[in-house]
Amino acid sequence: MRTYRLALIGFGNVGQGFAQILRDQGDALAQQFDAQMTIVAVSDLLKGSVCDPDGLSPAALLDAVQTSGDLKGLSAPYQGWDAVRTIAESNADVLVELSYTDLESGEPAVSHVRQAIEKGQHIITTNKGPIALRYPMLSALARQHGVEIGIEGTVMSGTPTLRLGQELLAAAAIDRIQGIVNGTTNYILSQMESGATYADALAEAQVKGYAEADPTGDVEGFDAAGKVVILANVLMGASITLGDVARQGITGLTPQDIATARNEGQRWKLIASVGKTADGVHASVRPTRLPIEHPLASVSGPTNAVTFTTNLLGDVTLIGPGAGRQATGYAIVCDLLGIDRKVKPRG
Ligand code: HSE
Repeated sequence: MRTYRLALIGFGNVGQGFAQILRDQGDALAQQFDAQMTIVAVSDLLKGSVCDPDGLSPAALLDAVQTSGDLKGLSAPYQGWDAVRTIAESNADVLVELSYTDLESGEPAVSHVRQAIEKGQHIITTNKGPIALRYPMLSALARQHGVEIGIEGTVMSGTPTLRLGQELLAAAAIDRIQGIVNGTTNYILSQMESGATYADALAEAQVKGYAEADPTGDVEGFDAAGKVVILANVLMGASITLGDVARQGITGLTPQDIATARNEGQRWKLIASVGKTADGVHASVRPTRLPIEHPLASVSGPTNAVTFTTNLLGDVTLIGPGAGRQATGYAIVCDLLGIDRKVKPRG
């Protein structure tokens, strides 16, 4: 059986969601795919860090966080390593970069990913910062060092959006992508339509693990804009930046706006869109009133949806979880199995 040793940088919602999958289904997945995923290091800015070259128990990691809020009481041969030291000194062969998203500089994730690639580690990340800002540079560096980068969880969490576009729709020529790509705002809008206040709905989205560490990124549309950049650049051959996305969040919408739309048979959605035209690529994120019978109007809660408009197939629509601990943890599993398919000896 092939074994992959993983170092997790960041142990928030996504890292814990991934650890839960390994705790509950790690053995079954290992049998099914003949590939064992072993966490050898976890380094989190707030929760502390542990490293055991022989492997850390996902159950023990989760118990520690649930009982004391951090990893400091966990017994392990090495403790207290920061991210840089963890990448440099652990025996991991895959870096799972889950530090907080910074859509301005991409740091510290860009530096972590560069360091790991240069050390010969494969990369899996759900962090939108480095991918929205530096993907061409990072993927070129990865090719140069013969390692793989998995980015599935950066858009629509574990719903296989990027893989669908990169692998199965690559020959169909994607001209336009439109949809709902932020779970937090879609959840807030759905809850507000059912009578919740904005503040309560946002607080629930945070508790449920949908929101970013700083939810401003969600409600002001930055998160969706970052995803539009990733979709455009990774799937449509574009090279746009965040500044190219006309962006408006949901904070200007009032309960009255939502009630008025409902009374008129319409629903507000934060719609992300990118399309190619004769004069270039146009991208936007903006609240949009949709007729209730529009396919995207019925996508509610943290569920996301994207429609790929392609030259050869017409429209292809994908609907699935857009945020959440386990849903995003699943993206890491998916990426690891994708790496395994690429690097395992052909038989
Ligand atoms: N905060 C993000 C969202 C998480 O709500 O969609 C998934 O990228």
